[in-house]
Amino acid sequence: MTMLGRAMPDRNAATPPQAAPAAGGKDLLTVAAIPRACVVHLLNVARAMKAAPRSGRAATHLAGLTLGLVFEKPSTRTRVSFEAGMAQLGGHALFLPSDTSQLSRGESLADTAQVLSRYLDGLVVRTFEQSALEDWARHAAIPVINGLTDLCHPCQALADLLTIQEAKGALEGLKLAYVGDGNNIAHSLIEVGAKVGMRVSIGCPPAYQPDPGIVARSRDDATHTGAVIDITDDPAAAADGADVLYTDVWTSMGQEREQAERMKALAPYQVNDALLRRAKPSAVALHCLPAHRGQEITEAVLDGPQSLVLAQAENRLHMHKAILTEYLGRPWFPVEDGGTR
Ligand code: CP
Ligand code: NVA
Repeated sequence: MTMLGRAMPDRNAATPPQAAPAAGGKDLLTVAAIPRACVVHLLNVARAMKAAPRSGRAATHLAGLTLGLVFEKPSTRTRVSFEAGMAQLGGHALFLPSDTSQLSRGESLADTAQVLSRYLDGLVVRTFEQSALEDWARHAAIPVINGLTDLCHPCQALADLLTIQEAKGALEGLKLAYVGDGNNIAHSLIEVGAKVGMRVSIGCPPAYQPDPGIVARSRDDATHTGAVIDITDDPAAAADGADVLYTDVWTSMGQEREQAERMKALAPYQVNDALLRRAKPSAVALHCLPAHRGQEITEAVLDGPQSLVLAQAENRLHMHKAILTEYLGRPWFPVEDGGTR
């Protein structure tokens, strides 16, 4: 049985996958749904993954397990880091773009999820609506991991914690400023910041502010961790004294028709040298990538000395390996540790 008490398919596997106790449930759909201790645990495992020799026990840790990646939107980092992560841990990954499966000819999500559960040990799903992702999770007997939806991108934000921790040490009390569109990345950063006690300052135009429900629920979480979530339409106020200055594209996948109006509204929210100077001199600049140089971020900042974007992209791999070990039921640390190491 899983953490949710649902029966896993009996495929006579030697080690059937079950979410580890530290995963906080069968699926990884949002950061908000993961207990704080699990976020901390995933971070610890990701650090261990990064340090582990590739030729050691890591090389066979997920042997015999197969991950499917059902993607309805393009991807470079998420797809490749999950596929490479499975390969490095001795498992196998199958890329399943939805336009090449029977989904594109009208086979239902429910039937597809149930059938794939008879072949695979886990799914990463990149789709549009969060409700579609929830449908995948409900119909699949295997773990479903959010590979990005219109609402959130939890794997990105969890990996970003690793990058920030490496750059700054402790996470608690750091000021993370996100300036730009209040989108899926902003939502997951708000949620993750609330879990680890950061001061998250979001600077967005009035029409592009983050989802009020996510902000309210994260503020509830923040009461337990000392986090503070500030929302402003003033980019300079958001960036003032920040330890981390973060931005993302102004037009996300699926919003292409809104591009002209978004470019106009978001132009004052560009991350450039002047905005970076509002942050601490020691601040680091992050962007989940892909970036549009000269739009949401200047080339000077993206390629400048304070930018950590390549380390940030690399850390997707290490965090995804941690996520895979926990959610595919082969925890890296012994379960007796209680999932809090
Ligand atoms: N940051 C990110 O998720 O990149 P991809 O769209 O390339 O996966
Ligand atoms: N907000 C962007 C993130 C891409 C990784 C999008 O959804 O397109």
